Amino acid sequence: MKTVIITGVTGQDGSHMVDFLLKNTDYNIIGTVRRLSVPNHQNIAHIKDPRFKLAHMDIGDPQSVNNTVQEYKPDYFINFAANSFVGTSWEMPVVHMQSNCMGVLYQLEAIRKFAPKCKYYNAGSSEEFGDVAYVPQDENHPLRPRSPYGASKASARQIVKVWRESYGLYAVQGWLFNHEGTRRGQEFVTRKITKGVADIVKSLGSNQIPRPIELGNLSAKRDWSDAEDFVEGVWLMLNQNEPKDYVLSSNETHTVKEFVELAFAAAEIEGFWLGESGTVGEVFVHKQFKYPLVVVNPKFFRPAEVDILLGDSSKARKEIGWSPKTSFYRLVKKMVSNDLENSLDKSK
Ligand code: GDD
Repeated sequence: MKTVIITGVTGQDGSHMVDFLLKNTDYNIIGTVRRLSVPNHQNIAHIKDPRFKLAHMDIGDPQSVNNTVQEYKPDYFINFAANSFVGTSWEMPVVHMQSNCMGVLYQLEAIRKFAPKCKYYNAGSSEEFGDVAYVPQDENHPLRPRSPYGASKASARQIVKVWRESYGLYAVQGWLFNHEGTRRGQEFVTRKITKGVADIVKSLGSNQIPRPIELGNLSAKRDWSDAEDFVEGVWLMLNQNEPKDYVLSSNETHTVKEFVELAFAAAEIEGFWLGESGTVGEVFVHKQFKYPLVVVNPKFFRPAEVDILLGDSSKARKEIGWSPKTSFYRLVKKMVSNDLENSLDKSK
């Protein structure tokens, strides 16, 4: 029986990867977790399969990484642990570099020493493309990060490449464009919007004036997909004859504004935009009651922005047979429905 180690297992991608592997393989899965005073295990609380076990490991502690790899001698090691929120990476650049880049180095060294046949995946990002040179971005696009987060992922990519080429390890790092879902953290813009919409529906239902959702740059364009589709792409990347890095993306781009419009429409709330587009005076207003539903707060602007991300995943589609199944529209609808259900549950 093969063994897969997954880090970041309590997060969105890690937990979906566990679900995917339990459903599609007969492998044993070790999910590594840091000790926390208050555990954050809600994304894996539903997993009862005895093939899934938790182990303590901290990606910042090379000794603990060595011990874990030495003990389990995994066949696969999937690194989804990271400081993944771009916005805070300017506030804590060192910790982003340590976890997102040095963490990868510790893992590759442990694999090289104790499990050299292990297949390794590190979570790469379209943020590595940053200040994009062309649209759409494919595997040949240069690395031009715009944030400490993007820089940490671009650096990790070089480490993965060097360890692959120097030691013959099967080590890959995909470029994953934005991927979302019902397990998404609430600070990311998609979940912030869908959760905000659900709160607004609740307020309107109890005849209260709703609190508007406060957002930053409404014009940013992102290529959003469903995280559940992406874990399958990661698994395909790990199971090729030769290790190769691929872009995973929907090949569509939408503004934050479009996400807002679709999310309110999914909750059957009609609204319209007022104020000059691209300014802090822009506001999305309830059609009937004229309440502000979305306002701009400059606090959420970033020191440097990635204006447009649009992926070209045609290589992954052709060479590893991957394709996303969930449309942008279905993704927004699924996230809104989930947050509406959660907010109804809480009000019972
Ligand atoms: N978070 C957030 N909050 N973003 C906002 C807001 C807001 O209030 N208002 C506008 N935005 C804009 C951001 O400026 C950015 O342009 C866009 O919405 C998306 O922001 P996030 O959802 O925070 O995601 P991200 O694109 O920065 O990063 C995500 O995708 C990367 C792949 O491209 C993360 O999942 C990264 O970990 C991932 O690598």
